[in-house]
Amino acid sequence: TKEPARVTVTGAAGQIGYSLLFRIASGDMLGKDQPVILQLLEITPALKALNGVVMELRDCAFPLLHDIVVTDDPMVAFKDADYALLVGAMPRKAGMERGDLLSANGGIFKPQGEAINAVAKRDIKVVVVGNPANTNALIAQQNAPDIDPKQFTALVRLDHNRAISQLAEKTGGAVKDIKNVTIWGNHSSTQYPDLSQATVNGQPALDQVDRTWYETEYIPTVAKRGAAIIEARGASSAASAAGAAIDHIRDWALGTPEGEWTSMAIPSDGSYGVPEGLIYGFPVRVKNGKYEIVQGLDISDFSRARMDATAKELQEERDEVRKLGLVK
Ligand code: NAI
Repeated sequence: TKEPARVTVTGAAGQIGYSLLFRIASGDMLGKDQPVILQLLEITPALKALNGVVMELRDCAFPLLHDIVVTDDPMVAFKDADYALLVGAMPRKAGMERGDLLSANGGIFKPQGEAINAVAKRDIKVVVVGNPANTNALIAQQNAPDIDPKQFTALVRLDHNRAISQLAEKTGGAVKDIKNVTIWGNHSSTQYPDLSQATVNGQPALDQVDRTWYETEYIPTVAKRGAAIIEARGASSAASAAGAAIDHIRDWALGTPEGEWTSMAIPSDGSYGVPEGLIYGFPVRVKNGKYEIVQGLDISDFSRARMDATAKELQEERDEVRKLGLVK
């Protein structure tokens, strides 16, 4: 039998946590033969609620759930961690400027990056879910200088999954028959859901939908889906966000299916003219626990403009956190 994997989840008492923890413990993320130890981090006032969630986790009697650690100390939460899902963050409140938002999140992701640097496994795989996810990932990464920068990623998989489901609905195709959608850039309204390489039942997606629909309805619907969920549900996406985080880590750990790719926000190596170092959504394939950007795709002028706009937003966020001394 396998050694248990240590999985750190921050913000574990929150709404995403409430969906996420049970699925990790049931083996949806790392496989039905991989025992896990959950290492749960919360702020002190939320520990009581977290203990309630832990009672429920125990009551599920998951055979793969080897142990649970509950703490408000990042040095305990990240100890020997193999995987970390950074969910806890400071949400934007009404009237909050971007600078205030980034500075509040710096107060969370800088010490977490330092703790990862100090005590986590050297090959830890980190995904940041808490918004602004891409820039929070950059902050954690830059404060963990002894860990390979490629181990820090951010979640655009929810956008990717939304892009697939919207296309499936429009074409009448099945989700499983849709391949090679890409989310480029930031997990924000500037993201670019790109169908230029996508296929439905092996046929180019853009041959099956109207170009005007794609440009004026599809792209904004995918990019603004989060707001539509809040409007309908009165709370932000939680189960779908948890599901996407599971998909992200599962594909990173266990690999993408042959001939297909997924979208992950990863440190840019300059591919496709994206400024180096930005945590930017790319099409990636994964083999043996290592991801690689899919190379050689044709980029139209339409795509170029959208890829540059979302890169520009990420550069502005990086400039802002540089001013705050949170990154180099
Ligand atoms: P929530 O507010 O229900 O839970 C967040 C939890 O984080 C709270 O329990 C809070 O106590 C905890 N927390 C705050 N600071 C912490 C710290 N320093 N250390 C540990 N825990 C801390 O929020 P929810 O709905 O679970 O969402 C979490 C984040 O995920 C938000 O930032 C949200 O915007 C983001 N999100 C990202 C998505 C994506 O696709 N990337 C999709 C949906 C949500």
